[in-house]
Amino acid sequence: MNLRAPKRVFIKTYGCQMNVYDSERMGDVLAPEGFEAVDEAGKADLVILNTCHIREKAAEKVYSELGRLRILKQERAANGHDMLIAVAGCVAQAEGEEIVNRAPVVDVVVGPQTYHRLPELISRRTGTGASIVETEFPTEDKFSRFVETKPIARSVTAFVTVQEGCDKFCAFCVVPYTRGAEYSRSAAAVTAEAERLADGGVREITLLGQNVNAYHGDGPDGESWSLGRLLTQLSKIEGIERIRYTTSHPRDMDEELIEVHGSNPKVMPYLHLPIQAGSDRVLKAMNRRHSVMDYVRLIDRIRSVRPDIALSGDFIVGFPGETDEDFEETMALVRRVGYAQAYSFKYSPRPGTPAAQSAEQVAEETKSERLERLQTLLRKQQLAFNQSCVGRALEVLLEKPGRHAGQLVGRSPYLQAVHVDAGGAQIGQIVRVHVEEAGVNSLTGQLDVSARQQG
Ligand code: SAH
Ligand code: SF4
Ligand code: F3S
Repeated sequence: MNLRAPKRVFIKTYGCQMNVYDSERMGDVLAPEGFEAVDEAGKADLVILNTCHIREKAAEKVYSELGRLRILKQERAANGHDMLIAVAGCVAQAEGEEIVNRAPVVDVVVGPQTYHRLPELISRRTGTGASIVETEFPTEDKFSRFVETKPIARSVTAFVTVQEGCDKFCAFCVVPYTRGAEYSRSAAAVTAEAERLADGGVREITLLGQNVNAYHGDGPDGESWSLGRLLTQLSKIEGIERIRYTTSHPRDMDEELIEVHGSNPKVMPYLHLPIQAGSDRVLKAMNRRHSVMDYVRLIDRIRSVRPDIALSGDFIVGFPGETDEDFEETMALVRRVGYAQAYSFKYSPRPGTPAAQSAEQVAEETKSERLERLQTLLRKQQLAFNQSCVGRALEVLLEKPGRHAGQLVGRSPYLQAVHVDAGGAQIGQIVRVHVEEAGVNSLTGQLDVSARQQG
């Protein structure tokens, strides 16, 4: 590859929002090297797959994509063009060298903690011709490297990673192995990034972390700051109108954070608080280290300060040893809590995790039946929540063009997608919308023209 000529990069992102953030940062570190982002692998000199290892299916997708890329790379070579292929993210971290053995077409393997070195890895690969595998957990702080590269505001909403890694070691989960030990960025670094995004036109930020509410970054006052304190600080930034955060662990939901939901109007009434299962026996085997009642009490407390909060969660069905009775307890918990939205998965054994070694694996058929029942219930709750908004006026941040001409799509405070005939309203404005219709996945409404519009 001619490193001096303009080059094109295509980044495909799998997995969680932290990967979305990382993909954007990869774009940011490559831009000064002359890389322009394109939306198709076939047009790219460099293709990066930013991968996810959380479930088997997620990891396998990467290898099928690499099979397709091998053909594309041959076609481009036949036309006299190079194509470098890089695998980044959590599969890269978990499998390292194995990726190059299984898919020799891969030029660079780079873990989530070292992708700021991408330009250097690419030039090493181009110089030596040998595949590069870089999966260390370096002592240097990758985030400090991004300060040199201004985050590019791509939309009116943006993610900001504030915490990374995990020390909790749930028995099913690969994250502590792929993302390493828990780490929090300093409050000053996060604030500076949010300020730059606000300057670029961002109105809503979502703070990210595998355990975002375990945040304990250094504050400018020399103290360790909690997430609640960080939210309060960020809410003072002019231009930032909305703040969200994800994903939270029930054990780290402290009183300060709960109270911010009651007192700070910029903190949106939406909380992703996974419990995974509704049986104490299963929670113990999962190493979640709290009980179902702890969770129920926590939800009651949060609802006491913010009664309208939309709750979301994650569930795993068919964890090793889960009986029919255990599963019924999960269904009962879901009925008791009432979720506005939630994710649910079949347990997927992951290499190197304790639960994968259990002799009590649940039959695939049982997992499928349980997932079907749980998802039917969760869909019903989601629809009910959305329908409860019909007739109400909600503040909607307009984010992008809708399906039809003249329509825009935005998000309600509860993170629902809202379709609205825009009239004169623009992307980036927060408008009041009278909700007229509700489906499982979105709301439709009319602009309230009489109401005050911010913008
Ligand atoms: N830190 C978050 C979860 C991050 S992983 C928390 O503790 O809640 C995102 C979700 O993927 C998890 O909440 C879990 O529901 C799911 N997940 C993780 N490992 C899994 C596995 N081995 N099989 C199925 N689902 C899994
Ligand atoms: Fe995985 Fe558990 Fe850590 Fe969440 S808290 S990232 S589920 S180990
Ligand atoms: Fe997947 Fe890694 Fe995120 S395993 S869910 S991309 S932290």
